[in-house]
Amino acid sequence: MNTEILTQNQETPIEKKKTIFSGVQPSGNLTIGNYLGAIKNWTDLQDKYNCIYCVVDMHAITVRQVPAELRRRTYETLAVYIAAGLDPEKNTLFVQSHVPAHAVLAWDLNCFTMFGELNRMTQFKDKSAKNADNINAGLFTYPVLMAADILLYQTDLVPVGQDQRQHLELARDIAVRFNNTFSDTFIVPEAYIQKTGMKIMSLAEPTKKMSKSDANPNASVAILDSKDDIIRKFKRAVTDSDTVVRYAEGKDGINNLMSIYSCFTGKDYSEIEREFDGKGYGDFKLAVGETVADSLAPIREKFDALMKDKKYLEEVMRSGADAAQRIAAKTVSKVHRKLGYVGL
Ligand code: TYM
Repeated sequence: MNTEILTQNQETPIEKKKTIFSGVQPSGNLTIGNYLGAIKNWTDLQDKYNCIYCVVDMHAITVRQVPAELRRRTYETLAVYIAAGLDPEKNTLFVQSHVPAHAVLAWDLNCFTMFGELNRMTQFKDKSAKNADNINAGLFTYPVLMAADILLYQTDLVPVGQDQRQHLELARDIAVRFNNTFSDTFIVPEAYIQKTGMKIMSLAEPTKKMSKSDANPNASVAILDSKDDIIRKFKRAVTDSDTVVRYAEGKDGINNLMSIYSCFTGKDYSEIEREFDGKGYGDFKLAVGETVADSLAPIREKFDALMKDKKYLEEVMRSGADAAQRIAAKTVSKVHRKLGYVGL
């Protein structure tokens, strides 16, 4: 892959750390889907990789936001990153709009992305169906901004949930197209998607993805929900008319609860089936609710403390943006030279 070997001296070759980039939109209350599909996995990567995690506020405005809420959620999303275990000393944590290079590169890459490619994006189709009165150009070119996010940092791996796979494929195609038109400019990134947790489903409609923008409050569990709310939502989770806890085709609700339980406990499906052998769905749902609530309790506590210290969060934002800006500027200047812009 893209590993560069640096030699410090003859005996000890040092492998350059690979770069990881990912982000979450501050467009709603972060769910356990965001946690299990993305943030939880990020915390496992921080020692081994050069990790850059962004709060993608510019993506969020493709759907109309209330400005005061967007601002609050931007702080909150950063606080969740840190509360979930991302150490600002080990990771670059920043807010997208603080680094204008994202918008600059997105424009350049727009000119290397085909209308037909964007028109095939399933998320665009879903979101334009949901926001029929505001199908703006930003919603359409959203994946190009996402490609810019990733390519700016010469990213090797992008840890995301399954729903972002198509966007990532497009980012790769754009990178390859640019590299082939000029010469090697971008590292071609790869998706890093965990098998369990990559697609957490709605508790109300288990054939649909759990989403932070779902209007039904019982469909999703927020990372910051209270213990009582979490238990209540799992108790009400839609399942099926069978009574045996087992992972099987057609049991979407139970399969979803089993994958959530598996992510939080580390137990595989056969262990879970044994654990609930002879017990009903009621016992299982309660166990899932309690496990999720107890696992998230320390995050909630740390989050509350962080939100009382806005100054600290702003310091993290500022130093993260400085670090990100330095890397991003190098890529932008390389791209601009290749495009033929006059450099001063
Ligand atoms: P967003 O904000 O919708 O979601 C953030 C992350 O959470 C994952 N995710 C899920 N994983 C499992 N089950 C679910 N139900 C679930 N819902 C969400 C998403 O896959 C994602 O990893 N376009 C991105 C944000 C973005 C980005 C980027 C990501 C912008 N630029 C560059 C990676 C790299 C988005 O809308 O994520």
